[in-house]
Amino acid sequence: MTAVVDTATQQARALARATAEALSAHGPVAAQDPAFIERDAQQAMAAAVAQAIERREPLVAEAGTGVGKTFVAQALGVQACRAGRRVLFTKTSALLADLAGGRADATWQGRLRRYVGPDLLILDDFALREYTAPQAEDLYELVSRRYRHGSTIVE
Ligand SMILES: Nc1ncnc2c1ncn2[C@@H]1O[C@H](COP(=O)(O)OP(=O)(O)OP(=O)(O)O)[C@@H](O)[C@H]1O
Ligand SMILES: [Mg+2]
Repeated sequence: MTAVVDTATQQARALARATAEALSAHGPVAAQDPAFIERDAQQAMAAAVAQAIERREPLVAEAGTGVGKTFVAQALGVQACRAGRRVLFTKTSALLADLAGGRADATWQGRLRRYVGPDLLILDDFALREYTAPQAEDLYELVSRRYRHGSTIVE
């Protein structure tokens, strides 16, 4: 798993801590979902996100398939929504297909703006396969426009 988080704010640090609490054995997810089990790796990831924000550093975390990376990213997204932030969660393949469609009918700029706008953008299943040159260009444009504008998690 790879997670990159930028933009350091006090609110973001609180958000990471709230996520760790939410995913604890006594948190709201456990209360609502009988299948939920507190997982050390998820707590470690939430703590690492908080520390990365604290230090204003990007974070690269790794975990095996099914450990629950997407679950943590979604929990961070929910906490950000609760804090009044605009959040967009998407599969990376869906984003790339959308932007590719924009190249075909001259709506690329408008489509890109939708992904630049949110305070937090979560790109799920990032880099599962090698990207084509136009896909790599689209991702470069997106990441460079979001730099110092909003937080991005690639996962
Ligand atoms: N703490 C948990 N307790 C119970 N089920 C969980 C927990 N965390 C995640 N799950 C469930 O485990 C499954 C795998 O979680 P998730 O998709 O987040 O893993 P992942 O690490 O992103 O996997 P992948 O590498 O395939 O993307 C999902 O069905 C999810 O709902
Ligand atoms: Mg996943």
